[in-house]
Amino acid sequence: MTHRALTRGDRIVIATHNKGKLREVAALLAPHGIETVSAGELGLPEPEETEESFIGNAAIKARAAAQASGLPALADDSGFSVAALVGAPGVRTADWAMQPDGSRDYADAMRKVMEAAQDFEDRTSWFSCALVLAWPDGHLEGFEGRAMGHWVWPPRGQHGFGYDPMFQPDRREETFGEMDPAEKHRISHRAAAFRLLSAACLPPAGA
Ligand code: IMP
Repeated sequence: MTHRALTRGDRIVIATHNKGKLREVAALLAPHGIETVSAGELGLPEPEETEESFIGNAAIKARAAAQASGLPALADDSGFSVAALVGAPGVRTADWAMQPDGSRDYADAMRKVMEAAQDFEDRTSWFSCALVLAWPDGHLEGFEGRAMGHWVWPPRGQHGFGYDPMFQPDRREETFGEMDPAEKHRISHRAAAFRLLSAACLPPAGA
């Protein structure tokens, strides 16, 4: 399969309004000589995520940013899935944390997952991350990475964010919330997706 690749010096839009994601993705791209600007900096609107897959929602965000800016655009969509809940919360992961006042509460979201899943013996769960790179002419490249493991209760650890404290990856004793952040970044769903993107679409890292 042939992929379309970026070249050194290309400038792309990171299709996110989230400063944390922007910093993480810009740092991953920098060694490859790719310059970044965010959808927020360009004042691009945030499209609604209406698809039922991570790749589908990342494609909506990437395509909208590429068309509005005239530059290639990279978007990410991620979430937490529980096998016993047939993949939920999945693409609704952020919604499960939503509070009546519009804020997000992840302690509450983790409790909801535990309550929904606690009667099932199978505790298999995973994080997914989809990365989609879109060009203004409509061409798309999409990659999905996963981190497999199981959910634990009670949540453990103060590192990370979101559902990290209730996820223990395979072959590890610590949850993502207990793990050194650098270690999480080596084995995470985001790292797995980025490795695929990098192999297919980025110039080699370094000079
Ligand atoms: P998105 O911003 O629409 O992609 O939503 C991602 C959701 O998944 C948010 O609720 C995050 O808290 C959660 N999530 C994604 N990646 C991670 C992770 O690495 N650790 C914990 N939660 C995550």
